[in-house]
Amino acid sequence: MKHSTFPVQKIATSKLSSINFDNLKFGRDFSDHMLLAEYNDEIWKTPQILPYQPLELFPAASVFHYGQAIFEGLKAHKNDAGEVFIFRADENFKRLNSSAARMSMPEIPEDIFMDGLMQLIELDKDWIPVGDGMSLYLRPFMIADDPFLGVKPSGSYKFMIITSPSASYYSGAVKVKIESHYSRAAVGGVGAAKAAGNYAASLLPAKKAQEEGYDQLIWTDAKNHQYLEESGTMNLMLVKGKKVLTPPLDSKTILPGITRKSILQLAEEWGYEVMERPITVTELVEGIEDNSISELFGVGTAATIAPISVVGYKDNQLQLPDYTKWEFSNKVKQYLEELKTGKVKDTHNWIETL
Ligand code: COI
Repeated sequence: MKHSTFPVQKIATSKLSSINFDNLKFGRDFSDHMLLAEYNDEIWKTPQILPYQPLELFPAASVFHYGQAIFEGLKAHKNDAGEVFIFRADENFKRLNSSAARMSMPEIPEDIFMDGLMQLIELDKDWIPVGDGMSLYLRPFMIADDPFLGVKPSGSYKFMIITSPSASYYSGAVKVKIESHYSRAAVGGVGAAKAAGNYAASLLPAKKAQEEGYDQLIWTDAKNHQYLEESGTMNLMLVKGKKVLTPPLDSKTILPGITRKSILQLAEEWGYEVMERPITVTELVEGIEDNSISELFGVGTAATIAPISVVGYKDNQLQLPDYTKWEFSNKVKQYLEELKTGKVKDTHNWIETL
């Protein structure tokens, strides 16, 4: 397949030497360049790669008022030999376009997303940190920028990719509270889209949980708060005997995670029984109490796996066993991390190498 190459305006002086690679956080520093594509008159114009810089937007730009904004997150890893690996970017491309469809935004052509992404990574590959949990976090996103206050889909958009040398998002296990008042998503809403507003709406409930000593929430269904949905910004999974369980996607209230999909496939290949089915709060609580649930964890791009050590429900704090001994989640985390850094053979065709 022929690949597109887009025009590049290089930064005059790289900022690379000003970054302390020994003290990286998640998403704080940004590499030298960004990709910008603009859409108007119903077509995407040729994107450009530019120095990372502020945007110029009118105060009336519709993203500020009606929130048409979607994003993706994925990572580039580098090994000691300088080879670069990118995990399942085609899945992020597809998901961005399904988020776009739900938010009445235009779909992105594949060459702008995929070729633009690879060209940007190649240009800034010196920014990819090497080491445990380190990556160049890639953030494609789209915003509506029509300066018009009428409530309708914007006529113009910007698609951009920025990249951030980052350390892991979480370290160690997290304490989560089962949320039984606020909701992340309702049937018919936008829970399956990676829409910026979903994250905005999660901030207050998450802050309240943090004030009670938790790290994050387990979201439950909006109707009765009886069924488990997601955990924080991640999908939720649990292990019961030889079964790996996760809530199903059919209500469209749950983000179709790429890490989720990959882990379910691996679980099946490794002989676990995979069950995408509704899981009640009662099943979770009883399963922790009677030790039939052996592992409980969040899964997502940023953390890969975030083991859960404590679940708060009503006035109880339910304790899970020591996560360092969990068989499935530790094995899958190690496998995915080795795959993403080129240490194990890519038998699924999930990795792009630069
Ligand atoms: C992820 O788990 O990959 C996320 O979506 C977190 C991100 C919003 C920082």
